[in-house]
Amino acid sequence: MPQRVIAEAGALLARARRVVVFTGAGMSAESGVPTFRDALTGLWQRYDPQTLATPEAFDADPALVWGWYEWRRHTTGQAQPNAGHRAVAAIEARLPGTVLITQNVDDLHERAGSADPVHLHGSLFAPRCSACAQPAVLPAGAPEPAEGRRVPPPSCTRCAAPVRPGVVWFGEALPTAAFETAVAAASSCDLLLTVGTSGLVYPAAEIPQVAARRGAAVIQVNPEATPLDPVATVNLRGTAAQMLPALLAAAWGTSG
Ligand code: OAD
Repeated sequence: MPQRVIAEAGALLARARRVVVFTGAGMSAESGVPTFRDALTGLWQRYDPQTLATPEAFDADPALVWGWYEWRRHTTGQAQPNAGHRAVAAIEARLPGTVLITQNVDDLHERAGSADPVHLHGSLFAPRCSACAQPAVLPAGAPEPAEGRRVPPPSCTRCAAPVRPGVVWFGEALPTAAFETAVAAASSCDLLLTVGTSGLVYPAAEIPQVAARRGAAVIQVNPEATPLDPVATVNLRGTAAQMLPALLAAAWGTSG
């Protein structure tokens, strides 16, 4: 990556007053959390989302679906935030109006110090009743299920229906308040930083495009080309843990 490109991105960040950070699975890849579409390790290469990530799949086999998300909750719970997560928290500390919008269902941003990420696709740590939507308490001390192991979901304490993972599945709408917050922030920012997303899943992938249409600069961090390349003012071809500290150093002379 030529230093000139990092310097260009750094100058955009140094000038910015209203920043949105938009993250996807690549943000957590260097923490050991698999992405969805990596050709070798991506979750959707190894598992069929139709049997695990749709309301119909949960109705057909709740224990299979609950067990898979419990396995993911335990494995991501053991992962640690990386230098990229910490750099995002440092941007928020330096520019307090920054809005962090994530498609990730892990809690690595929070554990790196980001106070209030907007979770567009829900969270592994916020299950709710599949019928009455009452928030559910995660089973305390539940052992990590082996990969692929069926685990019957707990029952709702109010209506006894099965508890479901608090994530957005294929065919479901995004949480309205989160999406509205994201669109409003993207519409009024002067810089959007998109990190580690393939830009393939809508409506989330609209967010960087909304910002660009409204005249904001867009910096993309991704080791691969994506459909967001043409939207980006600057493409930083590299990983989150490498590029974000370099970007902060270029903008402010400090990596965090
Ligand atoms: P994807 O798996 O589709 O894309 C991950 C992106 O991260 C790819 O563009 C990679 O090139 C990039 N990447 C990989 N390693 C990286 C690294 N170390 N640093 C930076 N980038 C890296 O993941 P998402 O775009 O997040 O939805 O996928 C969007 C949605 O699809 C997910 O939220 C999930 C999935 O189905 C739901 O669960 C609703």
